[in-house]
Amino acid sequence: MDIVALGVAVSKAVAGSTPHPILVVENLWKRYPGVVAVKGASIKVFESEIVGLVGENGAGKSTLLKCVTGVIRRDSGRVLWMGRAVDFHSPSEALKHGVMYVPQDIVLAKNLSISDNIFLGMEGKSMLATREAHRELSIAKQLLSELGVDVDPQIRGGEVGAAIAQIALIARALHFRARLIALDEPTSALGPVEVDRLLDIMVKLRSRGISMIFVSHKIEEVMRVADRIYVMRDGEIVAEFDRSRFNLNDIVKAMIAREIREFFPKEKVPIGEKVLEVKDLSDYYGLVKSVSFYVRRGEILGIYGIVGSGRTEMALTLIGYRRRRKGEVYVNGALVNIMRPSDALRYGIAYLPEDWRLALVYLLSIKDNIALPIAQTLKTVNLGLASPINLKSERELASKFIESLRIVPRDPYRRTMQLSGGNRQKVALAKLLATKASVLILDEPTHGIDVGTKVEIRRLMVDLAKEGKAIVLISSELPEVINMSDRILVMREGKVVAEFTRERATEEDVVKAAILKMG
Ligand SMILES: Nc1ncnc2c1ncn2[C@@H]1O[C@H](COP(=O)(O)OP(=O)(O)OP(=O)(O)O)[C@@H](O)[C@H]1O
Ligand SMILES: [Mg+2]
Repeated sequence: MDIVALGVAVSKAVAGSTPHPILVVENLWKRYPGVVAVKGASIKVFESEIVGLVGENGAGKSTLLKCVTGVIRRDSGRVLWMGRAVDFHSPSEALKHGVMYVPQDIVLAKNLSISDNIFLGMEGKSMLATREAHRELSIAKQLLSELGVDVDPQIRGGEVGAAIAQIALIARALHFRARLIALDEPTSALGPVEVDRLLDIMVKLRSRGISMIFVSHKIEEVMRVADRIYVMRDGEIVAEFDRSRFNLNDIVKAMIAREIREFFPKEKVPIGEKVLEVKDLSDYYGLVKSVSFYVRRGEILGIYGIVGSGRTEMALTLIGYRRRRKGEVYVNGALVNIMRPSDALRYGIAYLPEDWRLALVYLLSIKDNIALPIAQTLKTVNLGLASPINLKSERELASKFIESLRIVPRDPYRRTMQLSGGNRQKVALAKLLATKASVLILDEPTHGIDVGTKVEIRRLMVDLAKEGKAIVLISSELPEVINMSDRILVMREGKVVAEFTRERATEEDVVKAAILKMG
């Protein structure tokens, strides 16, 4: 080995033993009225490092990231960026220093092109300058293709799905030469193929010297790419794991401070008559093709399929949200005519949207959101007088769900806008459960929800089945579908392509049916 190479080796070894963190957060606090969201958190991020950040819903993960990236202001604590104390006043100031936050609910500017979304906020830039715009388009195209997506950067932000929006923001980070990207649940709205692509991108960015903080409830994903994982609980960093010590059980235990004995608490429930039967359902747009199925009292019917297989479209067509071309729907044996979602609800069919944000009125409290769909019923009981809905029973109803779904904070009067992402989802679920429908169609009910609560929601599904409800569980989480369902339908390209009983369903067969063309 020559001297120069030796020198490099030595300096690397030295650097390896005491590398300099690019980000140091010390004793950071953030209070909201009634909640201390972050309680003295300290973390470090090194160059070319992916740091996982996991914790239950409401643990304070998003708040911590937002405080570091200039989205919100911290109450106290020190943040060192590249060795200098900083206090970013806005996301754009943070971005100028190379720090970018990619939020949990990505919102691209709907009416601007993807390209404009990437360059948004660039100083001295005029949207009218066509030459500039041309240059930007080609840079945008190049950035996007570097990230492995071939999408026309002229498409508007409102027209692309979560996966592309995600990547557009990463392209923005690259363009502004971000050295630290904080990704807040970037995979929760993605299908398996898109998740793989995103994780690949993350690994590639790391090899280019970029650091990332990766928040996700899918701990296996975090374990796949992270170098280190911090666990946050109730506003505090309670554990740190190095890659060599990654272990799912230990991480989960640190997250929830208890052990989960049964991830899939399915019980045998007596199955009764058919409650809902769908025959030959097709939508107007060719995304749902002659779907037939039934679900019985006490039964959990799983519907599995990859993103784009038409599961959600099928459900939305069934409940009258999307236009139907043909097909019949029977409830308790009687043909019903469902033209719009309110008809479905009237016949006892309730739907929890995949995008649960659609289900909430953010400005209203937890209590009002839960009571909203039934308010109508309560009013009718009151003979249509503008008489007050029974406030006490509303509050009790909300409190009951806050208890059973472990919604945090436990305050029925809290606006849902102020809740963490996962807790908003729980309110959406409570809202649906409060309708007392006999058929519940749950579209990805455990997406974005922490492991502990996932188990609670699954247990709740079993309890509902015991009460005699029929449950349709749409999920792309394979173990969940297999372990929670009595029967499983597999959809592909808008059709039901296979059906398995609980006894006969294996992961391999179900996946094969979902992705392979048979014959
Ligand atoms: N704008 C706000 N006003 C009041 N309270 C808030 C606000 N934002 C967050 N909180 C509260 O701070 C706590 C931490 O929320 P945060 O969003 O950081 O949790 P999280 O770990 O990201 O959860 P999730 O996994 O559900 O996204 C929660 O109790 C939440 O209700
Ligand atoms: Mg969050």
